[in-house]
Amino acid sequence: METLFSGIQPSGIPTLGNYIGALKQFREVQDDYDCFFCIVDQHAITMPQDRLKLRKQTRQLAAIYLAAGIDPDKSTLFIQSEVPAHVQASWMLTTISSIGELERMTQFKDKSAKQSSEGVPAGLLTYPPLMAADIVIYNTNIVPVGDDQKQHLELTRNLVDRFNSRYNDILVKPEIRMPKVGGRVMSLQDPTKKMSKSDDNQKNFISLLDEPNVAAKKIKSAVTDSDGVIKFDRENKPGISNLLSIYSSLTDESIDALVEKYKESNYGVFKTDLAEIVKTFLTDFQEKYEGYFNSSELDDILDKGRDKAQKVSFKTLKKMEKAMGLGRKR
Ligand code: TYM
Repeated sequence: METLFSGIQPSGIPTLGNYIGALKQFREVQDDYDCFFCIVDQHAITMPQDRLKLRKQTRQLAAIYLAAGIDPDKSTLFIQSEVPAHVQASWMLTTISSIGELERMTQFKDKSAKQSSEGVPAGLLTYPPLMAADIVIYNTNIVPVGDDQKQHLELTRNLVDRFNSRYNDILVKPEIRMPKVGGRVMSLQDPTKKMSKSDDNQKNFISLLDEPNVAAKKIKSAVTDSDGVIKFDRENKPGISNLLSIYSSLTDESIDALVEKYKESNYGVFKTDLAEIVKTFLTDFQEKYEGYFNSSELDDILDKGRDKAQKVSFKTLKKMEKAMGLGRKR
């Protein structure tokens, strides 16, 4: 069976964008792959985090994975910082990365531009080799992510080629998998930018733990254009196109079918229906979430996940160290 890996940062509460772009796909692939799902807390600290908040969000994210349908009997769910091989392998991959290629990453450019006078944390620059390490230490064949991670995945593939040609042909080169609809869910108030869990404006995103009525209101007040026609056109009608993608992902009805269904309707009717769908989805989701968040079962699942992840990753780590000549020959 092939291996699949993906991760989410506990840098906030995941949004509907994270669900549609990532979590929903994860649930669907569990029978087809040996899956590793990671809470990447070491990635989260590349931006300043409050200690207690980070701890809480890590546990919340674990419960969110489970509420989204990750089955711990099928998949391995674990916390990155509890598996040392991630950072160890990351150092090796950092040594074969060039500063220029890391500086070219869009996420680095965006995040470093927002930094204060204290300077840009070096971890923001070396974030992609850590991400590459996450993936390669499990001999991952496939990585499901939203559109925004594509560039990091392409760099991962380059680093794998470089490592394999410079040292020994031991790393598996992963394939990228992106959802057909919803790979880039946009902000509700500014549909030209990505929906993000770390956005300062609460109205821009729907958190998976938003009170369902509040989330419904956010949908109803989402920015749309003034021509009132419900059709999919990302360029000229980004607001309604974004809402159509959300609707399609949550109901599995195709965008074409939705356009047909609402061809006689106005935005008000469409938004009221979608608000109801989002509300029902969140009510259901949060009921499952609560059950996991407060349970001791959650710790057992994370312990089991850590043990399995440590075992698998240690083997690849040792091969990488041997290939690079680290430590003693045994
Ligand atoms: P993160 O935590 O920002 O996002 C987690 C996943 O959600 C997807 N995503 C979105 N999809 C659709 N629309 C959006 N608005 C949206 N926002 C986020 C992301 O593409 C991602 O799939 N660096 C990664 C975490 C990571 C990782 C990895 C992923 C670390 N190591 C190894 C895959 C493999 C990140 O910051 O994701």
